[in-house]
Amino acid sequence: MSSVDRLEQNPAQTFVDEHFAPMSGVAIAAGPVADHTAELDPEESALVANSAEQRRHQFATGRYLARQAMQALGMAPAAIGRSDARAPAWPDCVGSISHTSTLAAAVTARGHGIRGVGIDLECLGRITQAMHARLYTDAERDRYAEDEPHWPCLLFSAKECAYKAVNPICGTYIGFQEVEIDVDWKRHRFAARYIGAHAPNALMNHGDGHFGFFADHVISFLVVRRPTR
Ligand SMILES: CC(C)(COP(=O)(O)OP(=O)(O)OC[C@H]1O[C@@H](n2cnc3c(N)ncnc32)[C@H](O)[C@@H]1OP(=O)(O)O)[C@@H](O)C(=O)NCCC(=O)NCCS
Repeated sequence: MSSVDRLEQNPAQTFVDEHFAPMSGVAIAAGPVADHTAELDPEESALVANSAEQRRHQFATGRYLARQAMQALGMAPAAIGRSDARAPAWPDCVGSISHTSTLAAAVTARGHGIRGVGIDLECLGRITQAMHARLYTDAERDRYAEDEPHWPCLLFSAKECAYKAVNPICGTYIGFQEVEIDVDWKRHRFAARYIGAHAPNALMNHGDGHFGFFADHVISFLVVRRPTR
């Protein structure tokens, strides 16, 4: 399918292509959750054989978009397995997948000093006030209290991106109080700062975060590069 066809048929891809400036070695694919189960590799189908239909559609759409993103990097489409930590097992690249009940997105990357990437979609408004104390540090709650109304959803999404980018490399669980997010609203950018005790997770500090709002969702992703000295 040409990029023009993709733009016409898929508003989510149009948004991603227009909102996020092209980045060397990084490709993003986004689209509606649909029944892509017939396009799964047998190894992938086995991973969701006993799952509910909605979950199989989300999983298959994520893999379908991941292969589009791989192809955009010039890679041949290939099966994407699953690690013991339930992260996608990428062939010859790094990547990340996210889905809600209606929308899915995948990012792939390779070369250019890139160590990891994380992507996340969240439905706006799903974070209630009662969740704030668990998800945000006191400093974040002070800082963003009078800020843009969607700050809770963006910070949550940004922290999940950081987890998805770094967990496959460092292998430890990262709590929401171990990360603080710095938002540049004008440029639609964010940075993740690791403030916990497991030093390797500070890899996320070397990340470029990007976000946008589309169809009652926030979509965000973080590209983590090798530290330069
Ligand atoms: C793993 C987690 C981030 C997934 O996020 P989610 O909002 O529940 O769901 P999403 O749809 O956005 O993402 C699901 C995808 O994440 C990916 N994923 C799952 N575990 C992962 C891991 N350990 N590392 C990287 N990616 C992972 C998978 O691709 C999964 O989709 P798939 O099973 O269809 O392949 C979340 O469930 C979690 O455990 N969070 C706790 C840790 C955290 O976020 N800390 C924040 C502070 S850093």
